[in-house]
Amino acid sequence: MRLLKNKKKYFHQNKKILFFSNNFYKVREIKNLFKKHSIDIISLKELSVEKEPLESGINFIENAKIKSEFGNNITGLPCFADDSGICIEALNFKPGVYSKRYIESFNTRNDCFKYIISKIRKTKINRAYFKTSICLTTENKHNLIFEGSVEGNITNIPSKDNGFGYDPIFKPAGFMKTFAEMTLTEKNKVSHRSIAINKLIDFLTN
Ligand code: IMP
Repeated sequence: MRLLKNKKKYFHQNKKILFFSNNFYKVREIKNLFKKHSIDIISLKELSVEKEPLESGINFIENAKIKSEFGNNITGLPCFADDSGICIEALNFKPGVYSKRYIESFNTRNDCFKYIISKIRKTKINRAYFKTSICLTTENKHNLIFEGSVEGNITNIPSKDNGFGYDPIFKPAGFMKTFAEMTLTEKNKVSHRSIAINKLIDFLTN
């Protein structure tokens, strides 16, 4: 991974970039953030790509890199992928990189929330943060990493069943709403993913 001196060699404005994700919510957040820039974001769905690599990395950067390199290899397009998760202090900062598998290990999302909230009640520690690492694999197969995180708290009761993943139980610091209660624009002003994506946008446009 390295910093590029002449990024125009690696990325040409108005070119298509693949965002490697089949997560409807992530694609919606990311397309919204790129909306005002002349960069065409293509999703896996638009290319009818369903195949995904095994996320065998032990941290967010490794998994993001596995996905962006995979997307670049199968399409030839510059490709970026994010790997994200929530770190909950009462769970010793888990599930982190295993956030997706963790929530899926419960029968329902609500069962997962109940368990997390019971741990918060026991420990009386409700601090948590979300983290995102994004890897951009350029046409020339260089990898660049962009990161973002957001601090917050786990709520006592899950909010309405909107959003994805842990959105209904995470309230970013300084806000009275959970991610699930925020509009797309509100979440995109503060989220871990938007912080990392804005760094990527700066890189691509400046
Ligand atoms: P992955 O990055 O697609 O491997 O999955 C990360 C998992 O972390 C998701 O399936 C969600 O459970 C959780 N996650 C990541 N970002 C968010 C978010 O913005 N809101 C809620 N949950 C998230």
